Amino acid sequence: MSAVTAPDCAATADELRAWHKDLRAQFPIITGHPDLAYLDSAATAQKPRAVLDAVQTYLTTSNANAGRGTYTWANRTTSLVEQTRDRVKQFLHDPAPGQSAVHFTSGATEGLRTIARDWLPRFLADGDEIVVPVADHQANISPWLEARQHLAREGVHVSVLPMPYQRSSGDYDHIALAEIAGPRTRWVAVTHVHHVYGGDMNVHRIRRAVGPDAVICLDVAQSVGHLPVDLAALDVDFLVFSGHKAMALPGSGAVWARQARGPAFTPGGWTGTPNTVGIVSLAAALDWLETAGTERIEQWTVALAARLTDGLRRLDAYEVLGCRTSLAADSPVQRRRGIVTFRHRGIDSGDLGFILFSHGFMVRSDSHCQGSAGEKSGSVRVSLHVYNSFEEIERLLSVLTTLG
Ligand code: ALA
Repeated sequence: MSAVTAPDCAATADELRAWHKDLRAQFPIITGHPDLAYLDSAATAQKPRAVLDAVQTYLTTSNANAGRGTYTWANRTTSLVEQTRDRVKQFLHDPAPGQSAVHFTSGATEGLRTIARDWLPRFLADGDEIVVPVADHQANISPWLEARQHLAREGVHVSVLPMPYQRSSGDYDHIALAEIAGPRTRWVAVTHVHHVYGGDMNVHRIRRAVGPDAVICLDVAQSVGHLPVDLAALDVDFLVFSGHKAMALPGSGAVWARQARGPAFTPGGWTGTPNTVGIVSLAAALDWLETAGTERIEQWTVALAARLTDGLRRLDAYEVLGCRTSLAADSPVQRRRGIVTFRHRGIDSGDLGFILFSHGFMVRSDSHCQGSAGEKSGSVRVSLHVYNSFEEIERLLSVLTTLG
């Protein structure tokens, strides 16, 4: 594990090793399958014992519907849901929690669709422009294009500005964005960490590029739980994530809305039964992640990804997608997070996925639901979380080397 060379302000390599060992032991599915390596956390994350226990405790002590009923279990369930709204704000370091709203969804996809359906049409006017991140996940593309079509049917014509990218790294091209954005650019959809390239998309530069009045919607599906997400430092208006990628149960997620630019975001309310179990699991997952320390999780997964990227780049048979430079774990310009996507120059990516599973590695191998401006052929994606180890990465590299 020599690849962990911690910066002064962060944990030392020995501290990180001990910390990681303790945390890994808290994932029953990981410890129960020592011959397998789960390397698909960008698709969904495994759950620590604390989350499983919280779900069991809730279902065996308090299960009831929320927002209705006057007895103890119902009141407790309603409180748990409301407290989780506050927990989400706190976890995201919301600087003005009294002025924001949290709406629970089934995940990031539904969150983005809800904004596009319920809020965006009320905000846009004829002649406005929207910036769509055409090489990001489809879930952060189609809702905006559909909203535009819906508006066009009502006689409101909105133009799409395709987000410019830097082809070498997969990052947004903030300079080109500033050149195309004008006073009618009212809506900008972006992603915090790219689900294919693994890069931090430097979203702090977006506000400067698009000006003070545009509404920015940030998809943090691949960053919540992997690194600190700090609303105080991100001048965005909407933030959307899936609970299951942050160690909560599938079918949970949230939209956070600042409520400062445009009309208030007020979908839903108590219409229908909320996913109370998912919301309970989300609160437990955020507690667990905060105790584990998102800065350390970031440090650990960045170091794992750097080791894998460095190893792959020494093997001529492989092409690594996304950022290629500054991959040392302690680099001040580090940009890759815990996702490494690559291709073998002679083996189809689907076949490579099967070969890797025959060696016990669970990876994703396809086009990863990337938008049409993205990669033209498939690839293998390794996506990491705190339970992954350097030993798994070394084993993976050794198998990849034999295929080289
Ligand atoms: N959005 C998830 C992924 O990238 C499912 O795999």
